Amino acid sequence: MPEIIIKRDPEEMSDEACGLVLAAAARKPAFALGLATGSTPRGLYERLRRAKGAFAKARFFNLDELHGEGPDSALSFHRALREQLLDHVDHDPGNVRFLRGDADDLEAEAEAYEREIWSVGGIDLQILGVGLNGHLGFNEPGSSLGSRTRPKTLEATTLAQYSRGGQGPRSLFVLTMGLGTIMEARRLLVLASGEEKAEIVQRMVEGPVTAEVPASIVQMHPRVQILVDEAAASRLKRRDYWKWVYANKWRVGQ
Ligand code: GLP
Repeated sequence: MPEIIIKRDPEEMSDEACGLVLAAAARKPAFALGLATGSTPRGLYERLRRAKGAFAKARFFNLDELHGEGPDSALSFHRALREQLLDHVDHDPGNVRFLRGDADDLEAEAEAYEREIWSVGGIDLQILGVGLNGHLGFNEPGSSLGSRTRPKTLEATTLAQYSRGGQGPRSLFVLTMGLGTIMEARRLLVLASGEEKAEIVQRMVEGPVTAEVPASIVQMHPRVQILVDEAAASRLKRRDYWKWVYANKWRVGQ
């Protein structure tokens, strides 16, 4: 059963997420951290920036990247993660391995990425958001539940969401960790906030595990925490139960 943590608002959600990430860093300073982009984890990264020294030994991977975007291009997720987090914390640039959307051969890049995750012993903690259509990373509905890192074609609705702000991606294609890759991380931390996410959060947590809602695969993970605010939790059928379980959580040593 996933652990569902419901916080009052996005601020409290980000505070809690920050505490969970820093606890993982304290347990294993050389941990491998998988980062997600999107608007949801911004508050988390803002808070992590205050813990400047916590990442000196950490390794970093990222969840996905837009095709055609190099590390410095304005739209790249690589750049966003640098600006939102890495530029502000102590880290070894040699320990940062982000997907290259500008690679000549996207399939070779995806395979090399898988090998590098493997070579460091896997990802210890993967941060995730969920798309309105249920995508996880850029694993759009219909993605194989066992998929690996690969180039992927975006859905029209995802493209439209990206273009809401005026500056959409230049390509239909992306690179994304696969659902199988994500599921191999030792722990998952899924974040969602806002009323807009309420329906998909309900389907992810309480619906059937199906490729139609790729994020529902997290129900199969042995160590997943789903951290949401009240608005995103508002459609959960077992909302009171999830709160009860968390409030009465068995904590060793208490
Ligand atoms: C995006 C990204 C994901 C992100 C998700 C949610 O399209 N591919 O990595 O987690 O959708 O984004 P947001 O947090 O902006 O709602």
